[in-house]
Amino acid sequence: MEDNNLNQNNQINSVGTEEQNSVPSTNQAYVQPTQTNNGNTNSPSKKSGPLVIFGIVLVIAIVLIVTLFFENKNVQGTDSQNLINENTKTIIVYFSKDGENYGKNLNIENKRNLTEGNTKVMAERIKSFIDADLFEIEPKDEYPKDLDELYAVTKTEYNKDIYPDIKKEIENLDEYDVVFIGYPIWHASYPQIIKSFIRDNKDILKNKIVVPFNTHAGSGSAGTYKKLFSLIGLPEEKGLNGLAINGTEVTTSDENIKSWLSSLGYKIK
Ligand SMILES: Cc1cc2nc3c(=O)[nH]c(=O)nc-3n(C[C@H](O)[C@H](O)[C@H](O)COP(=O)(O)O)c2cc1C
Repeated sequence: MEDNNLNQNNQINSVGTEEQNSVPSTNQAYVQPTQTNNGNTNSPSKKSGPLVIFGIVLVIAIVLIVTLFFENKNVQGTDSQNLINENTKTIIVYFSKDGENYGKNLNIENKRNLTEGNTKVMAERIKSFIDADLFEIEPKDEYPKDLDELYAVTKTEYNKDIYPDIKKEIENLDEYDVVFIGYPIWHASYPQIIKSFIRDNKDILKNKIVVPFNTHAGSGSAGTYKKLFSLIGLPEEKGLNGLAINGTEVTTSDENIKSWLSSLGYKIK
């Protein structure tokens, strides 16, 4: 950022130098006025010279001011350190599924039976490091515990773009400045219930800072963050970088989570 300013200052300086250089040549026109064929002094150009130079300097100054204004705006928009401070009100909204789930690499042989969903664990870890409230998105109709059944039901939901009903809507979302949205990767995307949540809260979310996070079994974020921001209709600078953690590593990733939160501008508790 500082480098940018330096360059801008350099530009300003070089314009200033040009301006100074041009003044003596104008004055010269007064000392030796150009002559027309009939010997008369060419007085219109004598008068308009300084005006033209003044006009050029004015245009350059306006261009510089406008450029500096927009660059500054950009920096503030994308720099989350300026957006998040001790007065920021944060909520962590997440969906997670306990019971049978994949382990590493989506291998059914690595099947695990979770007493608490991986994303729920990650959401709770985030909450333990910052001042934030927690809200769990729960489906009205429970998903099957058996992994094969769960896979089949959710695959149909995904293929048919079904929006499952949410058990209880969040009531006070508008009170918050920052909304974390967490989910597991299902079928290389976010679960359809995340789409239900966004559909129901889109008008509020559009005016918030949104931070995505997710757990997975090998796909990382699967390109879901960009998709999420565009689903909300959020300007790019209002969607901050997310964090993806392998589901098998949620209990051993505290340092990773803390440095991510710090990079967003949060003070770690
Ligand atoms: C139906 C289903 C589909 C999944 N699809 C993917 C996938 O495409 N890519 C991936 O990396 N993990 C996939 N996973 C694994 C989960 O993302 C991973 O286990 C996650 O940590 C589970 O989080 P949860 O316990 O909060 O629900 C899938 C899991 C299930 C149950």
